[in-house]
Amino acid sequence: MTINATVKEAGFLPASRIASIGVSEILKIGARASAMKREGKPVIILGAGEPDFDTPDHVKEAASEAIRRGETKYTALDGSPQLKKAIREKFQRENGLVYELDEITVATGAKQILFNAMMASINPGDEVIIPTPYWTSYSDIVQICEGKPVSIACDQSSGFRLTAEKLEAAITPKTRWVLLNSPSNPSGAAYSAADYRPLLDVLLKHPHVWLLVDDMYEHIVYDGFRFVTPAQLEPRLKDRTLTVNGVSKAYAMTGWRIGYAGGPPALIKAMAVVQSQATSCPSSVSQAASVAALTGPQDFLKERTASFQRRRDLVVSGLNAIDGLDCRVPEGAFYTFAGCAGMLGRVTPSGKRIETDGDFCAYLLDDAHVAVVPGSAFGLSPFFRISYATSEAELKAALTRIAAACARLS
Ligand SMILES: Cc1ncc(COP(=O)(O)O)c(C=O)c1O
Repeated sequence: MTINATVKEAGFLPASRIASIGVSEILKIGARASAMKREGKPVIILGAGEPDFDTPDHVKEAASEAIRRGETKYTALDGSPQLKKAIREKFQRENGLVYELDEITVATGAKQILFNAMMASINPGDEVIIPTPYWTSYSDIVQICEGKPVSIACDQSSGFRLTAEKLEAAITPKTRWVLLNSPSNPSGAAYSAADYRPLLDVLLKHPHVWLLVDDMYEHIVYDGFRFVTPAQLEPRLKDRTLTVNGVSKAYAMTGWRIGYAGGPPALIKAMAVVQSQATSCPSSVSQAASVAALTGPQDFLKERTASFQRRRDLVVSGLNAIDGLDCRVPEGAFYTFAGCAGMLGRVTPSGKRIETDGDFCAYLLDDAHVAVVPGSAFGLSPFFRISYATSEAELKAALTRIAAACARLS
């Protein structure tokens, strides 16, 4: 249901720029699962988009020290000099990218970075190419900014990755941006240097198209996968690439709300204009904490990733053992995006025919008390996303219940 339909009856008519945006499927499922839990049902929620680890102690301590030092006031508009310097070092150290301080911006989460970038650059009707499955916020942010999301289906056969042919075919004179996300939420698919190369070659031919890359899950990659980012691979695109990252996922800091980006100074400046009238600056305390995250010890990232990899293996093998499900092995992030085409047409014990991935996920919630998110929420069906950022014991219990529920379908 769109916002328009939801709130119209309350006597409020929302602005047209948000009228066609639906309430997030993920939030709806989460709300239903939580309500079932409150009724005493033993629901396992595999929908969370955040690590189950705690924010590291040295990061918390840096925040406490900042408070004691009195760093509780507004900071510079798009990031304190200390944090911008830490980000400059991070880009250089981990990505071989040189961004000057005026090419770096900090915001209240990577989500606000995306919002600032779209708000600062899109005119009504401008097109933004978004490969599906996509993180739901991409198309909603583009629509709020009165742009036109152009979805390109990237199915399992292409590893959920965009191909050069599809990109070339989608570019028009109105294309403003291409949004890429590696490793991806929801598919966990990541682009290697070889995967990126043909896409970057296409972009080189179209100088009016800008590239936004969301590297949020950079540190969560498996089996020795070598993470790369386009501005590093193709310096000729650097002056029209926005490299987005943040501390939320790598450092288990989702609640601190700090995201950042490197990009051309003119864009960074325009994004600061948006931010100046939205939040004035990101939280001072969270910025101090993020300095500690980016400059402090990094060894624990490997341990956490190893733990995620064990859970990925558990979930992928558990799902693939179920007749009718098909789960690709993801290269990164903490999600699996499994195909459930084999479940369509089957009938539940109560006589309901499963027609869509939404029906399948509703059945899993009702029958197995396991909450997962249908692919339709991410623009690609019939699939469902599992977030495995939860304990192995919970994952095992969830897989046993999913297998039993699937076996009850006829
Ligand atoms: C791909 C991707 N990018 C960005 C974000 C937003 O992160 P932040 O917490 O920094 O706003 C998320 C959060 O789920 C995400 O999955």
